[in-house]
Amino acid sequence: MKTVLVPIKGSTKADILFTGFFKGEKNLNPIKKIEPLFAKVFEAAIKKERFTGKAQDSFTLFHPSNRLASEVIVLGLGEKKDLKPAVLRKIAGRIVEIASVKKANKVRVVLDTFLSDSLEAKEATPIFVETMNLAAYRFLRYKTTGKAELPKFPDVIELAFVDKKDAAELKPVVSRAEKIARAVIKARDLNNEPANVINPPRLAEESRMLAKEKGLRCKVLGLAELKKLGMNGILAVNRGSITPPALIILEHGEQYKENGTVCVVGKGVTFDTGGISIKPPKGMEEMKFDKSGAIAVIVTMGLVADLKLPLHVVGLAPCVENNVANDPQRPGDIIKMYNGKTVEVINTDAEGRLILADALSYCKEYKPDAIIDLATLTGLCHLTFGDKTSAILGNDQKLIDAVREAGEKTGERCWQLPLWDDYADAIKGNHSDINNTGDGYAGTITATMFLKEFVPVKTPWVHLDIAGTAYLGKNRYDCPKGATGFGVRLLAEVLSSWSSESFSK
Ligand code: BES
Ligand code: MN
Ligand code: ZN
Repeated sequence: MKTVLVPIKGSTKADILFTGFFKGEKNLNPIKKIEPLFAKVFEAAIKKERFTGKAQDSFTLFHPSNRLASEVIVLGLGEKKDLKPAVLRKIAGRIVEIASVKKANKVRVVLDTFLSDSLEAKEATPIFVETMNLAAYRFLRYKTTGKAELPKFPDVIELAFVDKKDAAELKPVVSRAEKIARAVIKARDLNNEPANVINPPRLAEESRMLAKEKGLRCKVLGLAELKKLGMNGILAVNRGSITPPALIILEHGEQYKENGTVCVVGKGVTFDTGGISIKPPKGMEEMKFDKSGAIAVIVTMGLVADLKLPLHVVGLAPCVENNVANDPQRPGDIIKMYNGKTVEVINTDAEGRLILADALSYCKEYKPDAIIDLATLTGLCHLTFGDKTSAILGNDQKLIDAVREAGEKTGERCWQLPLWDDYADAIKGNHSDINNTGDGYAGTITATMFLKEFVPVKTPWVHLDIAGTAYLGKNRYDCPKGATGFGVRLLAEVLSSWSSESFSK
């Protein structure tokens, strides 16, 4: 799908032209400008209240002799004062769906009719570009039959403007949004791959290729290096797999250190069987998505390079397979982690925190001004927030707020849970410093309390539990069932605004 900015009259005819219309709107001029024939019919419909502009409603006129497009569709936007990014995202998804049902190849969207005083073209444009590209995403690599029934999505989306000077201003906005959409799609593609295709060495290979393409520095710590460093959290989890683990490290913009260094860390369990504390079979196939955090980090690093952010960013992805076959760790095992703390492994299914712990401790090598980690860490987070919200916890309210705001802006929303010291009781160890399992209550919080033990001292840090948001159990307007690519847009926003505002220091 290609997005182009065109003058409202366009140069060629589109298959469908979409405009928005607010409830109670008196000024029909923008519609009149579009198509005289259409304007007449539309005016009559408004007069007779056949169409009022209420949300979800639409008004269509098909006429082969229309000049701009044989079909014009007006989408009801509800009250103008209620127009929010979330409304536009759904509208963008709907446009793609309608276009696909009608097999339209070239779609023109009259941008100005979807705006309000509080939601300008600069803000609306990336919403359209991102959402439309993402709504047209499908993972088809392994489909060999039934291709004829697959939906056909438009090839060209024209964003039509009225004012020429808008176009010049919007061009870089479109190009940035396209980069972001491509990154999210890459994340979905990688994450939808099953565990018989993607394992830790394969993720390392993907990272090396990405680094080469985008000019990132890439370092992969393999079995030997992890042993030498004593990264026993990563090693213990991977014992059950015959495939070696990897700690992937991608680095961008060392020359921008004075603007700040941010480490982003992502859980990369390419499959989570649960280990000896094995999971029940129902839904276990979804545990191929337990690598979502790592993939968000890897892909975001490529995006950060694409966007040329003037910031030192280091992405760390500890990657393992939590399996039961080789010489797996047992419940009760005590391991000494990279930072020297000892952990009793009560439940081998609480493996994410073990691999993240070593990666978080390792961040100290980069003396970061902030650490952000993402992980499909607890089933409880999925139960609590469903697939619409990630949990956010951390040790620095300013950083938490910055990430939350980025979440509001991008639609990748986060809700804060407390991280009070009282919760540490649950992870006290019996024969060790700490245990990896908690006491059965407040699991999302106690898992984060565990991570906190491994964050380098005095480093602002936030943890995002993306267990519910990383993949969908059913289709959504902007994403089919499967991986969502959650985190890419959120991180890109946090890192972009960091580099422009110089958040701390
Ligand atoms: N990968 C899972 C968490 C998960 C579950 C993500 C369902 C998405 C959907 C994680 O490794 C895990 O198994 N966590 C355990 C922790 C428990 C044993 C303390 C859980 O949530 O049950
Ligand atoms: Mn697990
Ligand atoms: Zn897991």
